[in-house]
Amino acid sequence: MKALLLCGGEGTRLRPFTYTQPKALLPLGHQPILFHILDTLAGAGLREAAIIIGPNGEPIVTLLRQTNRWDFRFTFIPQPQPLGLAHTVLIAREVLGDEPFLMYLGDNLLEEPLRPLLDRFTQEKPDALLLLRPVKNPRHFGVARIDGSRVIRVEEKPAQPTSNLALAGIYLFSPAIHQAVRAIKPSRRGELEITDAIQWLIESRKTVTYHLITGWWKDTGTVDDLLTANQYVLKKMASAVHGEVKKTQVNGVLAVKKGALLKNCLVKGPVSIGAGCRISGSVLGPYLSVGDGVEITNCCLSRSLVFPNAQLKGVTLTDSILGERVRVSGAGRKEKAYSLLIGADGILNL
Ligand code: DAU
Repeated sequence: MKALLLCGGEGTRLRPFTYTQPKALLPLGHQPILFHILDTLAGAGLREAAIIIGPNGEPIVTLLRQTNRWDFRFTFIPQPQPLGLAHTVLIAREVLGDEPFLMYLGDNLLEEPLRPLLDRFTQEKPDALLLLRPVKNPRHFGVARIDGSRVIRVEEKPAQPTSNLALAGIYLFSPAIHQAVRAIKPSRRGELEITDAIQWLIESRKTVTYHLITGWWKDTGTVDDLLTANQYVLKKMASAVHGEVKKTQVNGVLAVKKGALLKNCLVKGPVSIGAGCRISGSVLGPYLSVGDGVEITNCCLSRSLVFPNAQLKGVTLTDSILGERVRVSGAGRKEKAYSLLIGADGILNL
């Protein structure tokens, strides 16, 4: 089965980080979001993916041409404007052909394996199989109403949701969806909504079934989502120390890539450290991901993402995201932790 992977859009809710790179390439744990997704797809036995890329998506093409450890056959489909999830099905029509396919939003992370769902879809042959999860804030999602084994209504971000079941951004479709996306009109926000296409399937008496997600699922649309997703990813990570760790107490899981040096630190895992980092005199974690080539001296960092080549000196930070090459310095480790969001190349002296 082919996958249609959506990496277009502008990632406006994740600015300033999406000014310099597409959302799908933002790092979580030890690798970009996109790589976590491709691990999931490859784990389900998929080997062909049509990837929708937006105007800032060229780095995705470059990276996947350099790194294709999954042996995927990629086709890149440019989408100059984010005209909606159903619009991506329209423009992928030729590549997808007349076969069923998996549609996967490039900012969704799923813990449970997809293979059993693909098998169920192939056996039962519905026109759509949706992944649903009860949520506290259904107004922020597509919402589904169910009756027995069927989905009987779907609505995009309703003001008054009639259920607490959110649609995850992972869908299995039969070729009937192609007729649906051609039949619908743009929504009030001007997008061709996949929920409207699914509702069209329901009203056309097509079979729309669902699966209730059991493990965690995260849409990494906002900064807070990104930090929570990083936490999930780190919880699953295994210890693997390929760099040097000297005079350092390590509690919990620690992963250190090649060429990194940790000296005189206290690690409260899970913590992931990138290649070539230089870190000393610091308290690290829990839930800290540090990119390649970062320098950290005399800091205390928890629940944060530090992108490659940042330099941090004498600061206490939590719930922070620091972009590439950011430089932050302070007067030393403090009781009070700051929470900072700084885009690439930002400089701050606290
Ligand atoms: O995450 C689950 C939710 O995803 C569902 O509950 C909603 O029904 C669904 O509409 C979607 O809502 P979002 O507001 O999160 O969608 P967003 O605009 O963030 O787009 C999701 C991904 O798809 C994102 O990685 C960018 C990509 N995209 C989006 C649009 C609108 C494209 O590639 N092309 C597009 O035209």
